[in-house]
Amino acid sequence: RQALRTAPPPVLATATDVAVARQLTIIYGSQTGNAKRVAESLAERAGGLGLTARLVRADRYTTRELKDEQLLYIVMSTQGDGDPPDDSLAFVEFLRSRRAPKLPQLKYAVLGLGDSSYPLFCGIAQSIDARLAELGGERLHDLGTADLDIETVAIPWTDSAIALAQKALKAQDIPTASVTPLHPKTSRATRDQPFLAEVLLNQPITAAGSDKDVRHLEISLEGSQLSYQPGDALGVWPTQASVLVDQVLATLSLEGAQQIEIGNTTRSLHEWLARHRELTQLTRPFLAAHAELAGSDELKALLQPDALDGLKAFLETRQLLDLLKAYPASWSGLALVKALRPLTPRMYSIASSQSVVDEEVHLTLATINYEYEGESRWGVASNFLAALDEGEKLPIFIEENQRFRLPSDTSRDVIMIGPGTGVAPFRAFVQERSATAASGRNWLFFGNPHFASDFLYQTEWQRALADGDLHRLDLAFSRDQADKVYVQDKLTERASEVYEWIQDGAHVYVCGDATRMAKDVHQALLRIGRQEGAMDEVQAKEWLDGLAAQGRYARDVY
Ligand code: 2AM
Repeated sequence: RQALRTAPPPVLATATDVAVARQLTIIYGSQTGNAKRVAESLAERAGGLGLTARLVRADRYTTRELKDEQLLYIVMSTQGDGDPPDDSLAFVEFLRSRRAPKLPQLKYAVLGLGDSSYPLFCGIAQSIDARLAELGGERLHDLGTADLDIETVAIPWTDSAIALAQKALKAQDIPTASVTPLHPKTSRATRDQPFLAEVLLNQPITAAGSDKDVRHLEISLEGSQLSYQPGDALGVWPTQASVLVDQVLATLSLEGAQQIEIGNTTRSLHEWLARHRELTQLTRPFLAAHAELAGSDELKALLQPDALDGLKAFLETRQLLDLLKAYPASWSGLALVKALRPLTPRMYSIASSQSVVDEEVHLTLATINYEYEGESRWGVASNFLAALDEGEKLPIFIEENQRFRLPSDTSRDVIMIGPGTGVAPFRAFVQERSATAASGRNWLFFGNPHFASDFLYQTEWQRALADGDLHRLDLAFSRDQADKVYVQDKLTERASEVYEWIQDGAHVYVCGDATRMAKDVHQALLRIGRQEGAMDEVQAKEWLDGLAAQGRYARDVY
């Protein structure tokens, strides 16, 4: 979840101009906002060069128009093991289906965004790129695959893709429009110019006996001009633990004080590693570089196309330091900094509403610490945050999430499903609904291992129940009985009421773990449709897709 540079939103052709003036259509699919930002920057560059670009989110794109597109750029991220972002599910399904039209008139280019710590890096973009060719489109520019550090690949890609678009339009003798004006720049803090915010409170909210260390953080926005809506995320630029930096330096016998220049920036090696490079998560490109340097056939074998499962297991269980220790190689400081992935900010769903907390932002944070084969492991940002004392400062910015918003009609009911720290945005939702005296009802499903140690914000929920700010609360404490109970089991138990709420117009929100929880909850909702709405499988899917399309089924999952 991170951005390009500070690009103001471009002024774009509106739907009515489209038939006359549209030259370039840019469709984007974005889970956390990265692809959106890259697509916006692409549209802005196109506009700057006098092209008329239309920028559309995939779920707002009328697939009927595809057969008439002349010039189409797609910017799409891949989630985890190869899923499309939520806003692109229908679009990707359409493209893959037999309903997709032949596209002999089309020139196109695809830019993928992904995470190279997953073996199927940019899988969705790859498949779209191949499919458009199969449908008869002409690939105007090679597929781009951008890692979490978007700048390295995406900026050069957008530059050359726009140049090609301009050339293609010139060849067709289509006059380019006048330069589109841009919004004035604002002085608010951004990803690249974050605000140094003060920590007001940092306290554990799991009790002794818990397997987890979950914290509640309160951070001051005073003086920042930053504001946010319930559903938005807070971006945090972490610093690596200095023990980790020192271990990496010691393992490679490198001197932290040496000065290293990249581009126009000179910093000490220690500074590069501590604040600008990823040192925990291993990536495939780094593994490939290290395999060469170490001359290791074992590592090279992992990178063969038929070794995906082995690679996945390796990337999931090893961190940088394990690799450096187990397969010695001699890196220079400069080569190391160039090969490591740039550090990117981490995003946290905001746990407060400004209607209640004013110039503050609250977070619910699980610190990630575990042992693997006797070595301790930690998550860079969560431990950075957990260690902050009150009064210390941290670099932050706000990341909007337009797809995770309370209903504008406050009389609508909401159903919120948020186990673990997934409960964070729902604390913001309930605060907001209370402060705005929303008349709709609020139903929360929360789960965690144990009632006694892991009931996050227990007293707040109980007070909200008593005050009429929360109407229903269902709890799934998974390990308090012999058999596991999860939020989806609670949903299933309440099937008829959940269905009733939804049919009466309720909005459904899911936040938390994407790989298992969100999928299981999705299945539970489908079952509720089949069982309570007497739907068959296809109808249940259409029902849920329909809710998502109306913005009544929204997910903030990671
Ligand atoms: P467990 O760890 O006891 O299996 C927050 O992490 C809560 O989500 C925990 O109670 C955890 O239970 C639970 N959880 C684990 N897997 C889940 C899944 N697939 N669906 C829903 N909840 C899950």
